[in-house]
Amino acid sequence: MRVYKRQMRCRSDIDRLNGQFLAIFDSLIPPEEEKAKQKQLLTLLEKLIIKEWPRARLYLYGSCANSFGVSKSDVDLCLAIEEPDINKAEVILRLADILQSDSLQNVQALTRARVPIVKLMDPATGISCDICINNVLAVVNTRLLGDYARIDVRLRQLAYIVKHWAKTRGVNETYQGTLSSYAYVLMCIHFLQQRRPAILPCLQGMEATYSVTVDNIECAYFDQVEKLRDFGSHNRQTISQLVWGFFNYWAYRHDYTDSVVSVRTGSILSKREKDWTRRVGNDRHLICIEDPFEISHDLGRVVDKFSIRVLREEFERAAEIMQYDPSPCVKLFEPY
Ligand code: CTP
Ligand code: MG
Repeated sequence: MRVYKRQMRCRSDIDRLNGQFLAIFDSLIPPEEEKAKQKQLLTLLEKLIIKEWPRARLYLYGSCANSFGVSKSDVDLCLAIEEPDINKAEVILRLADILQSDSLQNVQALTRARVPIVKLMDPATGISCDICINNVLAVVNTRLLGDYARIDVRLRQLAYIVKHWAKTRGVNETYQGTLSSYAYVLMCIHFLQQRRPAILPCLQGMEATYSVTVDNIECAYFDQVEKLRDFGSHNRQTISQLVWGFFNYWAYRHDYTDSVVSVRTGSILSKREKDWTRRVGNDRHLICIEDPFEISHDLGRVVDKFSIRVLREEFERAAEIMQYDPSPCVKLFEPY
């Protein structure tokens, strides 16, 4: 760990970084033409798919649909087929076959992955995309995240900065035991729910205006978010203060021994009440983030005893940089 001899940055010094963080946020927003190209690809795929499965629907999910997608993100698609007992591996192979024969490139069927997908690249738009089958829960949690983003712009700003940091520092790799982008966005939502005054409400704790049952899970929440546009206005914290606070929380304040971050309840739960106190199979629960709908799912389950150290060192590094480094907006995003 690097030791900084420089003076500690006070609150007004942190505020002075705000313009720089906003400029980074702006630079990451995808240009309109990129959105148009994604739509173009979606239309092409729908046309091809509907011939084979006339009653199927193709949904955009993940960062292209929840407004947390930076420029040049891959497109996540879900093919929803309402037929009983479908064999996902067979559908994946058939889908790959259909798409292969069109003008698409690098079509790969990954039937053995935890979530089986077809991967492809569209040469016309240069966009890469993954298509999964019947992962409707992901479509619904995408909607929830997108609705949170419409309440207060600071969520999108904070999540963009945190995701950008995680990607450049190599801690956004689930196959290496660090966290998914989805987990980081949930951590940001939770952090903003916890500010005093709160910047975000707990939508699942309010009267439900949207409700759907997926895989026997009832997904319900208040989705009339246009009525909540002023929710966070009593809290004037700037994005630079929030970035500072986020890293400070995960570096020094989060109780890794006993706490579970829960967007569903807008609070911290204990590992005891979730029964996440011991390792079961590969789930070690070393950092606990509850999925808002699939509540037995800990998004930190990919983290092992090595990667938890990497993660915590990275949070501490980021917190130190925000507190002491003379040029934090450069240092924070230095490739590892
Ligand atoms: N997802 C999920 N459960 C997980 C991981 C992901 O349900 N354990 C779903 C979520 O709907 C999420 C989507 O898969 O929005 C894509 O996940 P991820 O790639 O982590 O997030 P993106 O927002 O697409 O981020 P990126 O821009 O890095 O692609
Ligand atoms: Mg994605």
